[in-house]
Amino acid sequence: MQEGAAEGRREAVDRRLATLVPETAGAAARLTEAARYALLAPGKRIRPLLAMAAAEHWGGDPSAALDAGCAVEMVHAASLILDDLPSMDDAALRRGRATVHRVYGEDLAVLAAVALLARAFGVLSGPSTIAPEARLRLSAELAGAVGFEGLTAGQTRDLHQRNGTGLDDLALLNRQKTGLLFELAAVAGALAAGADGQVEAARRFGERLGAAFQIRDDLLDVEAEAALTGKDAGQDGDKPTVVSLLGAEGARARLATELSAAQAAAGDGPLMRLAQWSFPG
Ligand code: IPE
Ligand code: IPE
Ligand code: MG
Ligand code: MG
Ligand code: MG
Repeated sequence: MQEGAAEGRREAVDRRLATLVPETAGAAARLTEAARYALLAPGKRIRPLLAMAAAEHWGGDPSAALDAGCAVEMVHAASLILDDLPSMDDAALRRGRATVHRVYGEDLAVLAAVALLARAFGVLSGPSTIAPEARLRLSAELAGAVGFEGLTAGQTRDLHQRNGTGLDDLALLNRQKTGLLFELAAVAGALAAGADGQVEAARRFGERLGAAFQIRDDLLDVEAEAALTGKDAGQDGDKPTVVSLLGAEGARARLATELSAAQAAAGDGPLMRLAQWSFPG
């Protein structure tokens, strides 16, 4: 993907997110303010970009996947709010800013996360750019990606699984906490393009890209300054990660393997251009 094309899409995503979660007035205005603070903060927007690249990859109009990609981004933003809470990773910094609970309090942080999650389901069930049956399917996929075998399960493992955690355990944990939203974004793109026959290829691509993405996140946690990532460094502490198990070099090798597997799943084209753009070097 060209840098300019990605930037243009990212701006389109930001504009759409701001429209899909508008400001509100009255006594609960601060709830919306907290949600918008989290959602509209400068993130990479990799999940909506993935949905749009997948639509393009399979011959569709990238903008047909915009709303579905925004829905995934809302779930992601909600997951970050919760991930940063004192009872979870206890983070002070996110996207270069103070975390939501530090600005709005834990009460509004939790409520904003729930509201964003609900909004995501609302948006995903809505876009007229995706056929009604595909929208139903995506809503069910989203429920799975968040629920008892999804992100919340992955976060539970992340917080509570310690002794004897091996690479297979981590692969499952990372798939649940991170990979499934990548899979959902890629599947949404395929369905927005009307490429129902490519859903499994999209899922595999998303799975592998998501795995690579979490490995890089874990490498950055150890190697990068907060000024670069916009979030607290060294957050993972003594948590088992691919980096703590394999070392940095082993983790980098594994990351490269995941990217090759992503390429094998989808071949060359817009999806691999997105992968190369988000993993330069
Ligand atoms: C951070 O995700 C959490 C992980 C799943 C690794 P991102 O790295 O996509 O965060 P933003 O959206 O760019 O802030
Ligand atoms: C979080 O993984 C994945 C989520 C579901 C939010 P991390 O805890 O490593 O994410 P960061 O590093 O805080 O963004
Ligand atoms: Mg975490
Ligand atoms: Mg964290
Ligand atoms: Mg991390």
